Amino acid sequence: MAHSLSPLCSLSTCKNNKQYYKSFRQNSTLFPVSLGIHISGLAFERLGKRLNRRHAISATAVSNDKVEARSGSFQTNGGALKSKKVMVIGGDGYCGWATALHLSNKGYEVAIVDNMVRRLFDQQLGLDSLTPISSIHNRIRRWKALTGNDIQLYIGDICDFEFLSEAFKSFEPDAAVHFGEQRSAPYSMIDRSRAVFTQHNNVIGTLNVLFAIKEFQEHCHLVKLGTMGEYGTPNIDIEEGYITITHNGRTDTLPYPKQASSFYHLSKVHDSNNIAFTCKAWGIRATDLNQGVVYGVRTDETEMHEELCNRLDYDAVFGTALNRFCVQAAVGHPLTVYGKGGQTRGYLDIRDTVQCVELAIANPAKPGEFRVFNQFTEQFSVNELAALVTNAGKKLGFEVQTISVPNPRVEAEEHYYNAKHTKLVELGLKPHLLSDSLLDSLLNFAIKYKDRVDTKQIMPSVSWKKISAKPKTVAA
Ligand SMILES: NC(=O)c1ccc[n+]([C@@H]2O[C@H](COP(=O)([O-])OP(=O)(O)OC[C@H]3O[C@@H](n4cnc5c(N)ncnc54)[C@H](O)[C@@H]3O)[C@@H](O)[C@H]2O)c1
Repeated sequence: MAHSLSPLCSLSTCKNNKQYYKSFRQNSTLFPVSLGIHISGLAFERLGKRLNRRHAISATAVSNDKVEARSGSFQTNGGALKSKKVMVIGGDGYCGWATALHLSNKGYEVAIVDNMVRRLFDQQLGLDSLTPISSIHNRIRRWKALTGNDIQLYIGDICDFEFLSEAFKSFEPDAAVHFGEQRSAPYSMIDRSRAVFTQHNNVIGTLNVLFAIKEFQEHCHLVKLGTMGEYGTPNIDIEEGYITITHNGRTDTLPYPKQASSFYHLSKVHDSNNIAFTCKAWGIRATDLNQGVVYGVRTDETEMHEELCNRLDYDAVFGTALNRFCVQAAVGHPLTVYGKGGQTRGYLDIRDTVQCVELAIANPAKPGEFRVFNQFTEQFSVNELAALVTNAGKKLGFEVQTISVPNPRVEAEEHYYNAKHTKLVELGLKPHLLSDSLLDSLLNFAIKYKDRVDTKQIMPSVSWKKISAKPKTVAA
């Protein structure tokens, strides 16, 4: 099957995930020895030693006099303009890259922390982004050449607390946006080792971020990417994080019940619980963004140059519904509706992801506050999305078919769904609603790169019911 793996690629969860480094070492294009940028002193020496000089780090500060009064800057008591420092964990990924550029463009001082594991997943599973993506080093260099803005880069694994501590101590973030997780539900359901990896990577990574904030940067606001999938599909309205319940005559406001439906979604629930606890116990300030399914590829910043282009996943492991349907339509593959297609979820344009994260940073939670925002702009069922893509395809002159494929997941295929999403709008979110023009542009984008599509990656091959302890193997 397309997504099974050779034993040679199997993941283990050994300390510090050293097997990644081994794989990366074999791919020198991902890890040039140096970017010609520097961080001096003990921190670099220790980090360099530990990472065996494979990791390049930039630590160029934006000087205050260059900062214009933009949303990312604030005035100090002395009247000088200073940039807010934001650490974007997972900044080489789909949401993280777009967000890092957006924040940099808005005047924030940005550092990316990433261990490039997302690129490794592609290598292991034989997948690729629809769009060609540049190395993180070339992306950052191009951004600097176009805008003059530095983005600092810390390459390493946030499950490695020593690495993360050094990054926190050297960058001193005012906010940490945490996208740095294994984020595919199907990936977490491939086999036992992927399930264990997902929960270890996500839960321990987030715990380490919480400890780093407590130890080194108490005032730092954690903006954590959760998912609407944590709530499941209850037969009542979904609130934003909390619900007021009257039980046996007594009333309380409690965390909204969670009904996660994969080992990935469960990792997010564990994260939310750990964050809520540390807000109470240590006074951490945190915003949990329960994000819906993201679609689209372009943002104002990524379209400035082809080397800034974002990734777009269309395969059955990492691709999300609307992006997948647009690519399927572009290559003449029938749209793959799982089961009855009544599965309804919240969706948002990637241009709104970057807007929401900035709004959360610009309006931070108070010390000790655990804030939850539902981050999506519209709800659609899978059948509704298929109909929208079919119509948009027709307008561009091609016929789009739809097929129902046996649902590889365990989920309700027809259900009530009404989730609240007002808090980000109250903070000023101006949504980009799904329109014909966006669908046209996404379809045209898919058509532009359709020669890069591997149609074998489209049909689902990971089954919730067939997951086993045995590692999956792949026919090359
Ligand atoms: N894409 C969506 O539709 C969507 C929807 C809801 C929620 N989210 C959440 O948003 C976040 C980002 O999603 P995405 O689509 O950008 O994912 P992505 O896989 O494209 O990006 C995640 C990035 O984090 C990095 N990373 C993973 N583990 C790491 C670790 N231990 N240390 C350092 N870096 C690590 C990866 O290399 C990758 O670059 C995730 O937490 C995801 O759960 C995404």
